[in-house]
Amino acid sequence: MPGEDTSQKEKEFFVNIPQQTPGFFLKGAGHLEWGMKYRLARIFNPKTGRTVMIAIDHGYVQGPTTGLERIDLTIVPLMPFADALMLTRGILRAVVPPTLGKPVVMRCSGGPSILKEMSDEEIAVDIEDAIRMDVAALTCQVFIGGIHETRTVNNMAKLINTGLRYGIPTLAVTAVGKEMVRDAKYLRLACRICAELGAHFVKTYYVPEDFETIVASCPVPLIMAGGKKLPELEALTMAYRAIQEGAAGVDMGRNIFQSESPQAMLQAIGKVVHEDMKPKDAFDYYQTLKNKS
Ligand code: R5P
Repeated sequence: MPGEDTSQKEKEFFVNIPQQTPGFFLKGAGHLEWGMKYRLARIFNPKTGRTVMIAIDHGYVQGPTTGLERIDLTIVPLMPFADALMLTRGILRAVVPPTLGKPVVMRCSGGPSILKEMSDEEIAVDIEDAIRMDVAALTCQVFIGGIHETRTVNNMAKLINTGLRYGIPTLAVTAVGKEMVRDAKYLRLACRICAELGAHFVKTYYVPEDFETIVASCPVPLIMAGGKKLPELEALTMAYRAIQEGAAGVDMGRNIFQSESPQAMLQAIGKVVHEDMKPKDAFDYYQTLKNKS
């Protein structure tokens, strides 16, 4: 069994040579069957190959998170501006109109609250229920290096295995525990493990140094996580860099719903992701929309 990678040979990621995508527009998805491709093509825009997901699943550990106190009032009006929604089945059933028509990436893990060890999770949604709600993808997080690393990786593997039976892809989220260093070396390890075990796309954090090596060494699409609320221009800049360095989209929560104008911010992020708009222009666009509302 390989242990720590101690080779003295320098790693070569070939960051300037994108992975070929024969048979389908998404990296690593060419050999998947029809149902998988159909669902992935609902999440990722086939014209740009990218997605803007809005993450509103925070309540499953955090309760009524700031900005998500009343999803019916403040978040449902935003949903038409997103390509896909990442949320729990409780919020989907209780609050989201079935007429909305947006693909759902369903948070399927749960267990601890923010008061306990966060990696102590189990799978909390049966595949039959996910099918009943016609989800486009299943998701849970893995804590590589965390206290319950093996369990969270197994949770992901279980979702992948059950989803494969029904043509439903799985998004793996790389959670970074408090004791971990959030750098390219760590995220390369986490993302690659998720892809090796079969995740169809991976959500991870942006790091300013060597992000493109995380993308290059992950054979499936990588989408950028948002993280803590930043000033709008900084968040737009982070999204821009991630996209230019190879991310296939973003899945942002607090940087959208805790913005002064969530609707304007979501649309500005859309410009960055789908139209390669530069951060400064996207910020001007954000301000224009904000001032109109
Ligand atoms: C992490 O696993 C979860 O998906 C979060 O609940 C959520 O996606 C975080 O979003 P953000 O960091 O952009 O607020």
